Amino acid sequence: MLKINNLHASIEDKAILKGINLEVKAGEVHAIMGPNGSGKSTLAAVIAGKEEYEVNEGSIELEGEDIDELAAEERAHKGIFLSFQYPVEIPGVSVTNFMKTAINESRKAKGLEDMPAKDMLKMIRDKSELLEIDRKFLSRSINEGFSGGEKKRNEIFQMAMLEPKLAILDETDSGLDIDALRIVANGVNKLKSKDNAVIVITHYQRLLDHIVPDFVHVLHNGKIVKSGGKELAHELEAKGYDWIKEEVSA
Ligand SMILES: Nc1ncnc2c1ncn2[C@@H]1O[C@H](COP(=O)(O)OP(=O)(O)O)[C@@H](O)[C@H]1O
Ligand SMILES: [Mg+2]
Repeated sequence: MLKINNLHASIEDKAILKGINLEVKAGEVHAIMGPNGSGKSTLAAVIAGKEEYEVNEGSIELEGEDIDELAAEERAHKGIFLSFQYPVEIPGVSVTNFMKTAINESRKAKGLEDMPAKDMLKMIRDKSELLEIDRKFLSRSINEGFSGGEKKRNEIFQMAMLEPKLAILDETDSGLDIDALRIVANGVNKLKSKDNAVIVITHYQRLLDHIVPDFVHVLHNGKIVKSGGKELAHELEAKGYDWIKEEVSA
């Protein structure tokens, strides 16, 4: 699915990622953890193709195809989803209408016609039922007065509707309350399948009490310094990140 080789990236001439190697296969959930400033959000942004970042070395492949030269939009159309892409408020545009537009844009890019209204409605109904999202929420304006939990609900709904091959959830928000955590975890658990993959980025182990990752990677100073199974997250929770830093510098 995703293969990252020796990835080096910088912003404003400051090196941030310093040789990332990561392989994510279909059906897998990977967690990326690490202290603040270690480069987690940068990694997410670089995979998604955000233009502020410069890739200086290495490559990113999606299903065997080199995607380094593709713009963010093209990567999205190929099935890469990065959460929190639309944090702006859009008064007068409902959660549903926003999604309809996004889906039809993506179809257009693939040379397909708009999704028939009937199919769209069915998809909206199925996905909102799966995620236990009520109708009232679907008719609200995008992000207008959304609580932390509602923002997450909107993101997870977007993810469900777009059916990405690779979803990257960057849980930057240190103020994630238990409701928001539950929404994200439920969404990931319900949407994961043998054909897609999820990368969950989180500073805290808490989220991983609800999402059980297949692999956990620790990012430190722009490198993956440790990888393991789900037990690594518990070890980090117990010992903190200093333990990793000491091990790296030893
Ligand atoms: N737009 C930017 N301009 C300058 N430095 C940045 C920018 N974005 C991130 N950085 C720096 O890159 C490093 C990694 O940041 P980030 O990827 O956000 O880490 P994390 O998500 O792990 O907390 C930090 O030192 C941060 O200050
Ligand atoms: Mg971050």
